This record gives sequence, structure tokens and C-alpha cells, in this order.
Amino acid sequence: MNEIAQTSPLTGEFTYVDLLEKIQLKEAAVSVVGQGYVGLPLAVAFAQSGFQVNGLDIDAERVSRLRQCDANSPDIEDSELARLSTSGHYKPSGDFSLLCESDVILICVPTPLRKSKDPDISYVIDVAETLAITLSPGKLIILESTTYPGTTEEVLLPLFEDKGLVCGRDFFLAFSPERIDPGNKQYSVSEIPKVTGGVTKQCTTLAAALYRQIVDHVVEVSSPKVAELAKLYENVFRSVNIALANEFSIMCRELNICSREVIDAAASKPFGFMPFYPGPGIGGHCIPVDPAYLAWKMRFSNYQARFIPLAEEINQSMPGHVVKLVNESLNRRKRCVNGARILALGVAYKAGVGDIRESPALGILNTLICSGAEISYIDPYVPSIDIAGIHFLSSNLTSDLLEKTDCILILTDHPSFDYTTILDSGKLVVDTRDATWGYRADAGQVVRL
Ligand SMILES: NC(=O)c1ccc[n+]([C@@H]2O[C@H](COP(=O)([O-])OP(=O)(O)OC[C@H]3O[C@@H](n4cnc5c(N)ncnc54)[C@H](O)[C@@H]3O)[C@@H](O)[C@H]2O)c1
Repeated sequence: MNEIAQTSPLTGEFTYVDLLEKIQLKEAAVSVVGQGYVGLPLAVAFAQSGFQVNGLDIDAERVSRLRQCDANSPDIEDSELARLSTSGHYKPSGDFSLLCESDVILICVPTPLRKSKDPDISYVIDVAETLAITLSPGKLIILESTTYPGTTEEVLLPLFEDKGLVCGRDFFLAFSPERIDPGNKQYSVSEIPKVTGGVTKQCTTLAAALYRQIVDHVVEVSSPKVAELAKLYENVFRSVNIALANEFSIMCRELNICSREVIDAAASKPFGFMPFYPGPGIGGHCIPVDPAYLAWKMRFSNYQARFIPLAEEINQSMPGHVVKLVNESLNRRKRCVNGARILALGVAYKAGVGDIRESPALGILNTLICSGAEISYIDPYVPSIDIAGIHFLSSNLTSDLLEKTDCILILTDHPSFDYTTILDSGKLVVDTRDATWGYRADAGQVVRL
């Protein structure tokens, strides 16, 4: 089949060639559906490269803030949003009729778990159903939300072909996982290779041509399922290795050996070893969620995943392990948790962001509060937080606060914390992130995982 000379009988036009040319000339109108942690940086990347981009979101409050150039994102400066809005390259909107005028539609909506721990792809289906109603020939649709293998071809494709349009001829459909690491200043969107798998070869070619406008390297794979599974494998890999590091730290504690020193020594090997570090548990929208998508899918093949639930079990036990360490450490100083004044440093699930979704800090602090601890917290990215029915405001690190504190509990290793002052205070420090590692070798009051 000659992929260049394809004609849509519905339009009589060479939709594939038209679209490819529009993409290469950056004349294709792009809509990014979902303007959250991943959708906004993606929309901005296309706008920066010269495309006209609609940033569509169902949340009117989010759209309104974006219109006021309030990005509320660790990766996008408000001033950059203002520049792109003024130049007309980026337009935030809640008007989904703009999809009709779009040549390229990228879907970046949430894919959480239900209470039953089954995948919840209802947000993706909502967008696809809206899109299907007015789908016309000549569009490229790419799903970026993390999901189980088969979503693109088994769930989305039938919806889009329902009215007689044919994929690869009238419209084009692909999956390309979003791999951004919010807050990571080392790797920007353009530096993270884009894995791309289309339903047909033409779909892959068009999607790859699109991404080549904003990233340095595109990895074309043979199908959407390969691309869907590649993303899940990446995050299963992380979950399993984090669990290994967590269990390893517990074993080191039993042996009275510092796990960090061992891990750093092992990491001196230039091949065959990649260091992962222990922590208070996993959080965010990816690592605690994505592996469950694969385990769920495997159940239909009558295969019970083993590494995935084991890693989940170990990672989910870490908040309890941290509470135990706080208990033991206070006890050694003839104090108990009940009535102890504990200052938590960081509540976000990782350094450099204000995202508290699934953050292990929430469960740890909830347990300590229920045990009678008097909690205060500092997080430069999270101005306020509700835990155990109590509304907390982030404090400032003052000598007065340090003086009144019995235990400093480091839960997030934000780089802006003044670790020297913290260690110099002479207070008990329970450091769940090795944030104070390397600061003072003689800091005898520091308890590590
Ligand atoms: N956050 C991460 O670190 C990360 C990294 C890689 C991949 N992902 C994946 O990217 C996807 C999006 O994650 P996120 O962190 O950006 O989520 P998010 O919650 O930050 O943003 C999602 C946005 O989609 C909007 N939305 C929901 N339903 C919608 C609809 N029907 N139409 C239009 N907008 C809608 C929400 O209002 C929200 O603003 C998920 O599948 C996630 O697994 C996330």
C-alpha cells in the first residue's frame, strides 16, 4: 500500500500528506486536553516551537488561573505563559468545540485507581467520547495518559471508528507515554526521548513527525501496546527497585550498618548497578498507581504478577516503619510520641514539587497526630494542608520553633531547607531521605532509615 497517496473517500483529499505537511510546517492546530502536571508543559513545548496550541481543561478554576498566567507548575514560569499567551501561541480554554478545529489532539488526563485498585480510565473515555461525536477526517489523536496495554486499540479505536471513519486513512491514532518528571531541572521535555506507537504505520509516522518538532529523539515502536507497556515497565522497574532499597535499609538497620554508605559503595561500580535509595514510601500519580494497571491487565491472561504486589507491600509498609523509628528515637530520649512536638520538614511526595498526591507524609503525620503528637510542618511548596481533620499552615524555620521542637522529621528532601541550621540545633532528627547525608559526620542525633 502506498502510504503517501492515500485518499479519504469521505473528503476526496490526501489527508495523510496534508497533515504531515501541516505538522512539518508547524501549521497544524494543536489541542492538549488536560492542563495538569504533564499536559501544561507539553502544550507549552509545542507553543514554544511555533504551533498554535489550545490548552483544554474541564476544570474552570484551572483554566481561569491559566488565563491569568498563573501556571502553578514546577516546570513552567508564569512569565513564559504570559509571553506565549500574548504571542497567541498558547490559549487556555474550557471550550471543547475547539477540538473540531484542531488537527492534532493530545490527551493528558488522569488515570488513577478506583478504591478497588482497578484502573479508572473514565477520564480518558470521557475525552474520547466528546471527541468521537464531532470527529472529522484529517486528525491525529495521541493518548499520552499512562494506561494498560490495549487501551488505545481496544477502547479508543472502536469509539472513533464507530461512525465509519477508518483509522490510518481518515484519521490517525497513536499512543505516546508522557515521561516528564515534574520539577526535574536536569531533563526538560525536549531532552526526554518520546516513545511512539501508532495503530498503523502512517499513524506512527505522523506522531513521530509531530514529536520531532519538540524533542531531540523519537523512538518509533511497532504498536500502541508496545508504547503503553514500555511506560508501565519503566514504573514497575522503579517501584520494584525502590522496594528493594527500602527492604535493604531495614536489613542494614538490623545489621547496624548504614545503608547509604553501602549503596554509595556499590554505586562505584561503573556497570551493572544503578543506585536506588530508601525513603518513607512512594507517592505521586505514577509509581503507586501504574504497576497496578499492569497487574490488573495480567489477571485477564490468568497470570498473577508477583514482583508488583510484593514491591507494593514493602513500599506501603515504609510509613509504618518511619512512625516506629520516631517512637523508638523519642523513647531512647525518655520521651513518648504522646505530647511530643514534632516538626515535619516536607509533605510533598518528592523534592522540588508541591504535589501531595499519595504522599507518604500524609499517612505518617496522621498516625503521629492520632498518637497525640503536636505537629507543625514546613514545606515551601505546600502552604497549607489538612490532616486528621486539622488545618495546618506551613511554618517558618525560626530558632524559636527549633527550640520548642522535640523531633525534626525530614519527609521530603527539598533542596531549600537549611540542613546546617537544622543539624546545629542539636535536636533529634529522623531523616527518612538521607537529606543530611554528608553534612556532618559527627551528627550523632540523626537517625536514618
Ligand atoms: N504527574 C506525573 O509525574 C506524570 C508523569 C508521567 C505521566 N503521567 C501521566 O499523565 C497523566 C496526567 O497526569 P497529571 O499528573 O498531569 O494529572 P493532573 O491531575 O495534574 O492533570 C490532569 C488534568 O486533566 C484535567 N481533566 C480531567 N478530566 C478532563 C476532561 N475530561 N477533559 C479535559 N481535562 C480534564 C484535570 O482537570 C487536570 O487539570 C496521567 O495518566 C499520569 O499517570 C503523570
